[in-house]
Amino acid sequence: MRVGVDFGTTNSSAAYYDGQQLRLLPIDPVATTATILRSALFMTREGAAYIGREAIRRFTEGNVGREIAYEWRYIGDAEVTFADFGTIQQSLYVKIDANAPGRLFQSLKTGLRDKSFRRTNVFGTYYTLEELIAIMLRMLLDRIEQQLGRPVTSMVVGRPVHYSSDPALDQLALERMQAACQLAGLPDVRFLEEPIAAALAYARTAQGAQHVLVFDFGGGTLDVTILRLDGRGGREFLATDGVPIGGDLLDQRLVMGRLLSHFGEGATLGSRRLPFPSHILDHLSEWQQIIELTQPHYLEIIDEAILIGDRPRELKALRSLVRQNYGLPLYEAVEAAKVRLSGAAETLLSLHAGEIALDEQIPRWDFERLIGPDVRAVERCIDRTLASAGLAPADIDVVLRTGGSSRVPRFVKMLSAKFGAERLQEMDVFTGVASGLAIAAWELQGSM
Ligand SMILES: Nc1ncnc2c1ncn2[C@@H]1O[C@H](COP(=O)(O)OP(=O)(O)OP(=O)(O)O)[C@@H](O)[C@H]1O
Ligand SMILES: [Mg+2]
Repeated sequence: MRVGVDFGTTNSSAAYYDGQQLRLLPIDPVATTATILRSALFMTREGAAYIGREAIRRFTEGNVGREIAYEWRYIGDAEVTFADFGTIQQSLYVKIDANAPGRLFQSLKTGLRDKSFRRTNVFGTYYTLEELIAIMLRMLLDRIEQQLGRPVTSMVVGRPVHYSSDPALDQLALERMQAACQLAGLPDVRFLEEPIAAALAYARTAQGAQHVLVFDFGGGTLDVTILRLDGRGGREFLATDGVPIGGDLLDQRLVMGRLLSHFGEGATLGSRRLPFPSHILDHLSEWQQIIELTQPHYLEIIDEAILIGDRPRELKALRSLVRQNYGLPLYEAVEAAKVRLSGAAETLLSLHAGEIALDEQIPRWDFERLIGPDVRAVERCIDRTLASAGLAPADIDVVLRTGGSSRVPRFVKMLSAKFGAERLQEMDVFTGVASGLAIAAWELQGSM
């Protein structure tokens, strides 16, 4: 069996095509939509792994709201040499969070382009990024085979056009993804650019000669491709391009632009009115980074700031965010608010948990102000793709929107202004890429 697998930053899906029928596979039995698996991995202290909705549920049950309890743990002896004293034998202890039941990983795909993300310690065992992704991919493969009832013989796996705008990091990311597929034992893997896959899915049902521009805007990247269909089954890809901008970044813009004042931004400390260190609040830009603030030296700074600072209520909210693991609920509330803003002119972003009492009314125009630079970068990417295809906007007959972020009205507006609203079409936002990858897997039959 040949399948297509879209390993997305936020969501993954898999599909099978037999030349006639296209089947999206239900790979997450507990999700609201079983064919869309949240790209999340939860690893327990005992080394068990869970993916998808189940991963989020287990993390939330075990961690959120739980007070972090540090314990000194003996990790071994070492010889320590002091300049004026000589060498002594010393026992080493580290402070660890004694009760954490497990660790949650999300957006691992984004980690591929991050040189510093080499390996991470999960309760004493080191895992490389490739190993973590391999665990997910292996579980995914098992579920696919279970659904199909037969072994998978080859796979077409999606890849963004550019993992990173830096060519060296782009290469690194691809090599790491290839290594992850190998570690997972995936059979005979080919990679295909995600927007090309989406275009293949569209081309299957399209009629007549036309120029199509695919706008695939997901959780981690924007990918664009332009193709020409000749109306007789022939197709030619004219240009592809992409930028590492996606829904995760839009969430981050909201947090950093609108929420920091609820967590101590602008506080001053003591009679000298020293500013509360901004590098601490920089950690709020990603939920995983909030977890880093649980290290004792950061908690000490926050505790002291509560005592001597002029904004104790906000700083207590920060302490609660960190100590009780509300980073994930915060980001989930932000993402949900962003999604609501795709349908409403304003929305109330709320989080009431521990000492956090957050209610922030966000109008869509303000969200659009915060993402202004991203909209311009996305537009430049489209212009570059058009230029390299040698086409003007008026030459494009259909603009296919796919990927969850392609529903953000500001981007729809930009596309409408450039191409005309009547040319825009939304295709299966979360599963279009997987469908196209399955078609590619089928088409490659002869050559594999
Ligand atoms: N209605 C909506 N309005 C705005 N954003 C949305 C909407 N629905 C989903 N999103 C966002 O879309 C993103 C997920 O989209 P998708 O599943 O297409 O990404 P992905 O394929 O996992 O990522 P990538 O292709 O970049 O690796 C998330 O950031 C999510 O918040
Ligand atoms: Mg995608």
